[in-house]
Amino acid sequence: MNATAREFRELYGYGPEGVWAAPGRVNLIGEHTDYNDGFALPFALPQRTEVAAARRTDGILRVHSADVPSGAVTFELAALDPAQPPQGADSWAAYPAGVVWALLDADLPVSGADLTIRSDVPTGAGLSSSAALEVATALALTDLHGLPLTRPELAALARRAENDYVGVPCGVMDQMASACATDGHALHLDTRSLEQRHIPFDCAAAGLRLLVVDTRVKHALADGAYAQRRSSCHEAAAALGLPALRDLPYGELDRALARLGDPVLRSRVRHVVTENERVVRTEELLRAGRLRETGPLLSAGHASLRDDYEVSCPELDLAVATADAAGAYGSRMTGGGFGGSALALIDAEAEAEVGRAVTRAFRDAGYAAPRITAAAPSAGATRLV
Ligand code: GLA
Repeated sequence: MNATAREFRELYGYGPEGVWAAPGRVNLIGEHTDYNDGFALPFALPQRTEVAAARRTDGILRVHSADVPSGAVTFELAALDPAQPPQGADSWAAYPAGVVWALLDADLPVSGADLTIRSDVPTGAGLSSSAALEVATALALTDLHGLPLTRPELAALARRAENDYVGVPCGVMDQMASACATDGHALHLDTRSLEQRHIPFDCAAAGLRLLVVDTRVKHALADGAYAQRRSSCHEAAAALGLPALRDLPYGELDRALARLGDPVLRSRVRHVVTENERVVRTEELLRAGRLRETGPLLSAGHASLRDDYEVSCPELDLAVATADAAGAYGSRMTGGGFGGSALALIDAEAEAEVGRAVTRAFRDAGYAAPRITAAAPSAGATRLV
């Protein structure tokens, strides 16, 4: 029997109606573009979050995590209130509760549920463990209650849970990647229309590996700085008379920059517009099977995030510089930044050597040992049982 289903049975004393899973993600390129209506190119990780679920009819939600030693957290559906999400040791439960709140707020009838959650997506690593939890919960509940949501609608709802219930002002990339990605493909995402294209991305066949270096740090300023970047972008778009920075074509960047007085806003705009362009060019190279040639775009993306967007940190910069010096085709931080993970595109046979070089560099710098894994583009959310 599926281990999550077994856990469910042990805790609640009866069997679940099904088990659903949704993965974490790595973003290949297209960082801090999603809240600017721009483009991103994430892919799903093999690591995923499973949710075993059964309906209830009494307006009660019970959520239990196999990874949290305390028992189930209970909510009354009618009392779910975004002004009072669970705090402290129960704060993880805000994600599934937020999904139920978002379903009810969208007038989608949910009568209650018992849930058990298990996950091997590392938390705090910038690999979207929260999106995996939201999307797995949303898929379980919409399937069980027969709610006909498309995958992009499901992702938008999961994002709403995170924005308006949990209170994190993220874009939609992580939830889209978790809900919509397919095995062996990167997901080209237009975050305005939610239109998506599945781009074949088979590193193994090309003799390549994508290393993910989890720096195991998250710097305290991450949340405030993310919100600040977001508002700078919105301020710049308004100053330029545009609905969003997505509407500034790459070819018009210099003229637009000349119209902005504030050097910080100029840097932020330069990052977003050049990053959208890098996504377009990366997609073209992937489609042409020229995977190695994406390396310089990845590295240019990192430099832009470090210098113009100022969301990197010494640990990420060290991971990137060391991987590059050890022969990577390109590398960059991935996700929101200020810690979390970096990725490096390398030859398959260089995996051990690059890993050793990064580990040694971290030790020499006095940083905690990084967690280094190879990632292969994997399937998006699905029903397992
Ligand atoms: C975090 C957010 C995403 C996105 C990235 C940066 O992962 O959750 O929506 O904005 O940062 O690209």
